[in-house]
Amino acid sequence: MATILVLYYSKGGSVKEMAHLIARGINSVKGAEAKIRTVPEVFTSVEEKAPSIPETGSIYATLEDLTNADGLAIGSPTRFGNMASPLKYFIESTSSLWLQGALENKPATVFTSSSSLHGGNESTLLTMQLPLLHHGMILMGVPYSVSEIATTSTGGTPYGASHVGGSKNTSISEEEKSICIAQGKRLANLTLTIKNGS
Ligand SMILES: Cc1cc2nc3c(=O)[nH]c(=O)nc-3n(C[C@H](O)[C@H](O)[C@H](O)COP(=O)(O)O)c2cc1C
Repeated sequence: MATILVLYYSKGGSVKEMAHLIARGINSVKGAEAKIRTVPEVFTSVEEKAPSIPETGSIYATLEDLTNADGLAIGSPTRFGNMASPLKYFIESTSSLWLQGALENKPATVFTSSSSLHGGNESTLLTMQLPLLHHGMILMGVPYSVSEIATTSTGGTPYGASHVGGSKNTSISEEEKSICIAQGKRLANLTLTIKNGS
């Protein structure tokens, strides 16, 4: 059985919904299982109160979740053309794993949600890939054989799934959904291929 960690941060729920769609794609592949985890908020100003661990809701990721995963999908809202601080903060806590090479040769893929079409979702996807390369992970995108990549008029890129909510934060389109599911499925198949050494 291959375990694939779907790690995300989401404030308004779009990236969370995408994480669940990607997990659906992963779980549709025999022998693969998605594990969905999120990350805590971070302090952004001295006026803010320390975030406490909620009693209910999504489970926070640990470094062990990363070590034990055979593959990884990470997702973040686009913030000023880059990933959101809580996810970056978590990634910056992975130095011990980097020293051990714990994530080397594991497949990884990225996804994001943004408000505007040309407001930095692609730069977010590309820059989210950089720390994964430092970890020696094998990056995976979405090929054009996933036909919705070419037909979508909102989100969905070869660099990874995206959702463009617009100023009214519209729900995830059918094309965007299909791309998320296809990305999860592809990650699961690649993870199994690498894990089984074939
Ligand atoms: C601080 C901040 C910065 C943002 N920067 C961008 C941006 O650069 N480009 C963009 O299109 N949307 C931007 N947004 C909008 C979010 O990316 C968008 O609402 C996203 O869908 C939120 O995802 P979530 O619902 O999972 O939290 C920003 C939002 C916040 C709060």
